[in-house]
Amino acid sequence: MARVGIFGAGWVGLVTGACFADLGHEVVIRDVVPEKIERLRAGEVPFHEPDVPELLERNRDRLIFTLDVDDIADCEFLFVCVDTPPTYSGDADLSRVWTVVDELPELDGRPILVMKSTVPVGTGDKIRHGLDLRGLSHVGYASNPEFLAEGNAVRDFMHPDRVVIGAFDDADADAVAALYAGLDARVVSCDVNSAEMIKLAANAFLMTRISFINEIANVCEVTGADVVKVAEGVGLDHRLGPHFLRAGIGYGGSCFPKDSLALKQLASNSGYHFQLLSAVIEVNELQKRRVIGKLTKHLGPLRGKKVALLGLAFKPNTDDMREAPSIVLASRLLAEGAVVRAWDPVVADPGNLPRGVEVVDSVLDAVDGADAAVIVTEWADLRDLAREEVRDAMANPLIIDGRNLLDPVAVRAEGFVYEGIGRRTVATDVLPETHEREPEPELH
Ligand code: UGA
Repeated sequence: MARVGIFGAGWVGLVTGACFADLGHEVVIRDVVPEKIERLRAGEVPFHEPDVPELLERNRDRLIFTLDVDDIADCEFLFVCVDTPPTYSGDADLSRVWTVVDELPELDGRPILVMKSTVPVGTGDKIRHGLDLRGLSHVGYASNPEFLAEGNAVRDFMHPDRVVIGAFDDADADAVAALYAGLDARVVSCDVNSAEMIKLAANAFLMTRISFINEIANVCEVTGADVVKVAEGVGLDHRLGPHFLRAGIGYGGSCFPKDSLALKQLASNSGYHFQLLSAVIEVNELQKRRVIGKLTKHLGPLRGKKVALLGLAFKPNTDDMREAPSIVLASRLLAEGAVVRAWDPVVADPGNLPRGVEVVDSVLDAVDGADAAVIVTEWADLRDLAREEVRDAMANPLIIDGRNLLDPVAVRAEGFVYEGIGRRTVATDVLPETHEREPEPELH
């Protein structure tokens, strides 16, 4: 068993550390934020991620949380798990990565610096050079990107589709691979640049699938097809597969938006215009806004209309609000003059949600008197949304299902007007006569 040091007690660092500890390794997690370390020492986990609290608790004896960089000096592996947020230009901000390199203490033997943070292609080369300049030529370097999805991270770590390891030295690659020996994992060994690109390309491809199916959904709407059936039929082709073909109101989160921009800028910086990726990003931006058109279709101008946003997190089973489509949607609704009430079962800190949105504690509070309810995140709690008490509470029985969570037939049978994304509308999808439409604004 190895001694593993981890720089960064964020989501990636903690999941990685907890899982390595569960595999039997001794793990030292170092962060620069004192409150974070204090909370972790007290057994608190600063975010919502299934199974992580249990893993940290179960492996307490093998986990050390520290502020002191010298505590990782005797580790054989030094994992970099700091964030690489986008800069104003869209490039990845590597300042925290470089701080780690600058802060490395005196190291004996042949420890290996392992990059888990998502970085542009070419970063490993630069860090190798930086290590050499600092007199740390004896420190190995490897790129070992993470492919963990929020809400599923522990399962993804323990049952990986692959472990990618790019190294300058075969012995370093073998040593990193040995850390995962307890897992049934296929290892892809390659050069450092390729490992860095595998991470960016995998995310870009997943986003491409999402924007592709969202555009198919939009075409389904104007041609009378149902994207859920289309995705099923397409995904059964073994060359295509069923994953990431769920149409909706677009992707968000801490990774896809930032990584797509970083890859686009990486290509631009090298003189290449990555047209397909640019389109993927643009389609996603437009997709978040399409709900406004659907609401207007049923309600007319949205000024003064009450809209319930159900779900705020960028996806279920996480409390992460970073780049969540709910933020764009709420901003657009407020700009149209709508009154916005929102509910989420887990999100405690609504982050960048615009001021003016009232966040309430229950679905019933959110839909009370609402002209429309919009499913923004496909939380399991919303599966029974189309029930009598919800219908009775609403001013208009209108559900816009931004994640195609519900069965349209069952929802309509409960007396709701239903509209999903890329799903066929039916003749009865009109609000009752009692609904008062405001006059359309005059065009000059
Ligand atoms: C993503 C990747 O799935 C991970 O493999 C990767 O390691 C991670 O980014 C990262 O780079 O760290 P994550 O952002 O946690 O993971 O979430 P996903 O499950 O991939 O979902 C991303 C977004 O796509 C969500 O907003 C989700 O609602 C949306 N999505 C996903 C769709 O709209 N349709 C789909 O079919 C699938």
